Amino acid sequence: MKFTHRLAVAAVVAAIAQSAGADTVKIGILAPFSGPFAMYGTQFKQAIEVYQAQNGTSVGGHDIELIYKDTGGPNPDVAKQLAQELLIKDGVKYLGGIVFTPNAMAVAPLINQSKTPTVLFNAATSVINAKSPFFVRTSMTLPQVSAPMADWAFAHGIKTVATAVTDYGPGIDAETAFTKEFTAKGGKVVDAIRMPIQTTDFGPFMQRIKTEAPNALFAFIPAGAPAFAFTKAYSDNGLKAAGIQALGTGDINDETTLEGLGDASIGIITSHHYSMAHDSAENKAFIAELQKLHPGAVSNFASIGAYDGIKVLYKMIETTGASGGEPAVKSVLGMSWVSPRGPVTIDPTNRTVTQNVYIRAITKGADGKLENKEIDTFPNVPDLGWAN
Ligand code: PHB
Repeated sequence: MKFTHRLAVAAVVAAIAQSAGADTVKIGILAPFSGPFAMYGTQFKQAIEVYQAQNGTSVGGHDIELIYKDTGGPNPDVAKQLAQELLIKDGVKYLGGIVFTPNAMAVAPLINQSKTPTVLFNAATSVINAKSPFFVRTSMTLPQVSAPMADWAFAHGIKTVATAVTDYGPGIDAETAFTKEFTAKGGKVVDAIRMPIQTTDFGPFMQRIKTEAPNALFAFIPAGAPAFAFTKAYSDNGLKAAGIQALGTGDINDETTLEGLGDASIGIITSHHYSMAHDSAENKAFIAELQKLHPGAVSNFASIGAYDGIKVLYKMIETTGASGGEPAVKSVLGMSWVSPRGPVTIDPTNRTVTQNVYIRAITKGADGKLENKEIDTFPNVPDLGWAN
């Protein structure tokens, strides 16, 4: 009797302690949920749902509350204002998301002031992480994926290339890294086209490249509606028929656009850190859960940036709860795990993941659908832009 009584008291005490201890830690997610880049918001949110379905909505006794804010496209002023709102009005202790480099640059001074750990699910210009010690990046950098593309192209008989990139941070990073690697091997860049970020008509650029007749075109365009228009223009302007190989970073042919690109896109070769067709148990489990929650959904590099990003945020919160700050960032430096993309490690020097970079060709899969089939792997590539 006495023993039972003690047990009951202990249970009540434990329950009180637990309810007192179960604080709520808020994470603010900045992403486009409207406009030509709304794909990102959808992919981020669905991937976070997958992570929470597998791992729960609390960690280390802390309940997690997510607050989503729509930044639209590359809008640094809007991103800054929304980050301010999240930090001051909503009281978030951690930030995640951020698709565009200019948005990340605008948020950097704020997180430096508030010491807010911020996990970049996408923004991919190398220099961003130098602007704040509170940035950790689970996507990639353009130098990380562009230099392997140059290496592979030269080794596979491509000797002349015209580059075409969007004229802002990631495009310039991609052009610089590709050109440096390609010319160091002995290749020749015959034209370096920088296209305004507002461009929607890519026909004139395609005609220019067609006239120059290089062995290949290398492109970076931010994923979303413009990248789709670019890749479609490659096929529509007869470059493939003229024998000009399309090369690029995987931003130009992510899985949300593949079906729309149609069979004319078969043979386009890109380098990236994630393909939905990646053959691994981790990727299969991710896709199975995603399609259980959202029948017919596809995963792309944005999904995987968010899935791994929320994992990193959970780890930080498990370690430092609502206090966050420098100790939260420190707790994930050197962290390694097997992601649906393959093995990754957060490089303690630059806070971007070191990861495999895959060369992929658009191919018709066994199910008759187009996929980015991995045909080669550059293992454990760090952010190659960091030292520059
Ligand atoms: C960026 O602005 O850093 C960015 C945006 C879209 C991409 C890649 C990089 O697909």
